[in-house]
Amino acid sequence: MAIPKRVLKQVGHPSGLTGRIILRMLNRANSNMNAHALAELDVSDHDNVLEVGFGGGALMSDILAARTSIRATGCDISKLAVRSARRRFSMEKRARIDQISGKDLPYSDAQFAKVVGVNVIYFWQDILGMLLEISRVLERGGRVVICYSEYGPKEGSEFKMSEIESQLRAAGFVDLRTTPITTSEAGNHYCTVGFKPDTILAE
Ligand SMILES: C[S@@+](CC[C@H](N)C(=O)[O-])C[C@H]1O[C@@H](n2cnc3c(N)ncnc32)[C@H](O)[C@@H]1O
Repeated sequence: MAIPKRVLKQVGHPSGLTGRIILRMLNRANSNMNAHALAELDVSDHDNVLEVGFGGGALMSDILAARTSIRATGCDISKLAVRSARRRFSMEKRARIDQISGKDLPYSDAQFAKVVGVNVIYFWQDILGMLLEISRVLERGGRVVICYSEYGPKEGSEFKMSEIESQLRAAGFVDLRTTPITTSEAGNHYCTVGFKPDTILAE
């Protein structure tokens, strides 16, 4: 079933009163995908993790709860999501929240051990461009985890596993692996994991 344009706009960029309800709904509706993403992140002590498009912030919360030595940064284009996450994590010194434009990431090269994005790839204007940005901010050997539904929220949009893998490959990621996610939502859901190569070959 096609999602009405008004709701689609909200899941892609929550704002106002409806946005607040959407953020809460997202945390509940996507709990399976978030649990899968957390397992695939395979966090270790002292990991510095970035989540792109954290929405309601449930996954960031789980990442921080997984190990007391982990630091987590979340970035999102939505002012509302950012404001509400800043409130949610105001007492958490290991968390940092940033509002971004959606085109690039305001972080230094090789800053993160792991980067995760759940249900956000549908909204990237330039998927390859964002994956290149993710690769830039990942340290060598760093891990990227992208979770998505085969059918994006926009009517007719498709995110085929083979296409996502080929975009990740084009961005330089290696050892790609995709697993299906069980959810109550219609359509297939996947989580694709890749790694920034340990050694950068000379050009
Ligand atoms: C469908 S929600 C998913 C939220 C959460 N990851 C989840 O699965 O529940 C998409 C989120 O990504 C954010 N977003 C959309 N485009 C973005 C972009 N280019 N960069 C970062 N965040 C983006 C939206 O503001 C929204 O909070």
